[in-house]
Amino acid sequence: MSTRSWAEPYKIKAVELIRMTTREQREAAIREAGYNTFLLRSEDVYIDLLTDSGVGAMSDRQWAGLMTGDEAYAGSRNFYHLRDTVEKYYSYKYMVPTHQGRGAEHILSQILISDGDYIPGNMYFTTTRLHQELAGGTFVDVIIDEAHDPLSEHPFKGNVDIEKLDALVEKVGADHIPYICVATCVNMAGGQPISLANIREVRAWCDRNNVLLVHDMTRVAENAYFIQKREDGYADKSIQEIVFEICSLTDVATMSSKKDAMVNIGGFLAMNDPDLYEKACGLVVVYEGLHTYGGMAGRDMEALAIGITESVDDDHIHARVGQVEYLGERLERAGIPIVKPIGGHAVFLDARRILPHIPQEQFPAQALAAALYLESGIRSMERGVVSAGRDKVSGENIMPKLELVRLTIPRRVYTQAHMDVTADAVIRITENAAQIQGLRFVYEPKVLRFFQATFDPVID
Ligand code: F0G
Repeated sequence: MSTRSWAEPYKIKAVELIRMTTREQREAAIREAGYNTFLLRSEDVYIDLLTDSGVGAMSDRQWAGLMTGDEAYAGSRNFYHLRDTVEKYYSYKYMVPTHQGRGAEHILSQILISDGDYIPGNMYFTTTRLHQELAGGTFVDVIIDEAHDPLSEHPFKGNVDIEKLDALVEKVGADHIPYICVATCVNMAGGQPISLANIREVRAWCDRNNVLLVHDMTRVAENAYFIQKREDGYADKSIQEIVFEICSLTDVATMSSKKDAMVNIGGFLAMNDPDLYEKACGLVVVYEGLHTYGGMAGRDMEALAIGITESVDDDHIHARVGQVEYLGERLERAGIPIVKPIGGHAVFLDARRILPHIPQEQFPAQALAAALYLESGIRSMERGVVSAGRDKVSGENIMPKLELVRLTIPRRVYTQAHMDVTADAVIRITENAAQIQGLRFVYEPKVLRFFQATFDPVID
């Protein structure tokens, strides 16, 4: 293990001022937001750890890149720069830009999934699963069991359980499995990586069963960091080399470039198969835009191309994950129950253990996120039963084993002092956890309910 400090390989050139609020102001704000942190106004938030998506700080080079935007409707220079960058760093030959990750998921699901198909994946992601379902498919979780256990210290909790894949083939037949979706640094598992050894096994399984391997590469550079640190034979490989190797083992990729690649908006669908590319070009013009800009402005494609280059830099990624680990280790030392090992993009609080008095039907993670905001002005996100939604067939709440609050760290945005303020606030609310009440729905949207649902405290 390197003992080098994780200190940032950049200095600050511009700052954005943020507002401190009083408890009275926060009380009014969270009530008005129906105890849902998605519905808070950003102005009422002090430290925003809702997500790492689209909230990273761009570099001076990326900002300069914006000025070189070629806003031609067709054949923008920036498209070709982006396409070549995707091939150079991620290996994929073809690429259509989309407005963000779910735009790519939509197009891919529509092309590859038929009614009655099954799509295995290493845990679900909310929008990914919904697009699979809207296309007539059923998601099947094939992640290893350890991923559902917040206490397991397995170094690669994002790994796929090949036996679960075989069992699925046995049950439904490989003909009904168009692809497996493998995410790097699995978000819902707590930002947990998959090993290269496991990706190679999945590749072999796909070849045996004639199933495509789709890569949700939203956080591939962070996954590469853990491979470098934990997997035999990779300590001397660069992040760039590891990222390339991961991508080379897969057929297709969906990317939300709002994370790893540090842009405020954008994504793409990439692949090596020219026929699939032709189909993607056919759909991107319907839902996103012409195939040489998809859902993006020329300037945004330029910022993305530069962001990809920066995202695979070893010093960058060490500082990025180092900051997340710093926060996680502080909480761990204070005895706060968190998902172990500490993930790549966030620290996940285990709401079940922090609020044992609140049954899962009363949304402990949602209640904890609201309480943290009230205490400190820090915004976090529920990743538990509210996010899991209802079963497509029975209509019952899906009760996930993981009932978590995500403290998501935006890239290159906050300082070590902000991490200390966050740790102190979490420690304070945990000490007074018995006072936190459960919640019940006031309004429950039909799809992706966590975004817009509102709640009321349950008064005993
Ligand atoms: N896949 C993963 C693993 C994601 O984390 C996300 C977004 C998407 C796909 C969809 O991409 O938002 O660009 O359409 N995750 C965000 C989050 C929203 O906060 O975790 P998108």
